[in-house]
Amino acid sequence: IPMPISLKVNGVERTLECDTRVSLLDALRDHLDLPGTKKGCDHGQCGACTILVNGRRINSCLTLAVMHEGDEITTIEGLGGPEDLSPMQRDFVSCDGYQCGYCTPGQIMSATGMLAEARDGMPSHVSESLIGKANLSDAEIAERMSGNLCRCSAYPFIREAIARNTE
Ligand code: FES
Repeated sequence: IPMPISLKVNGVERTLECDTRVSLLDALRDHLDLPGTKKGCDHGQCGACTILVNGRRINSCLTLAVMHEGDEITTIEGLGGPEDLSPMQRDFVSCDGYQCGYCTPGQIMSATGMLAEARDGMPSHVSESLIGKANLSDAEIAERMSGNLCRCSAYPFIREAIARNTE
């Protein structure tokens, strides 16, 4: 059943009409012309589709667009463009935190959301001592980013890029 949905995407009010079965990932890519968010597995296992919803990272393939009426969505396109990269995007470039690049938007969105979680003191089984700050160890970054797979195995460079944003 097609339904109208209003979302705030990258700071802009967007309205779309889509079937109630359409995932938020497909709504972004196919209905809102935002292909920066990638589809890897389409069932919650790779993290390529990670975006921020109301500031929190989620796998956009695992949720339906109709469930997000009025929500604030941030995708890689909203983080920064070629002329104004966000600090995290800049550090992924300078650390070579990618190889083929397919997982990169999801990695960057996940890392951005993860640092906000760490700074906000979100409960974490990784290290209770880190609540309220974000100076994470390499192992803690690895654990918190474990939902984002990189088939090229650029993990050390990805973690280095993220570490530069933790002080
Ligand atoms: Fe959503 Fe893989 S495409 S987790």
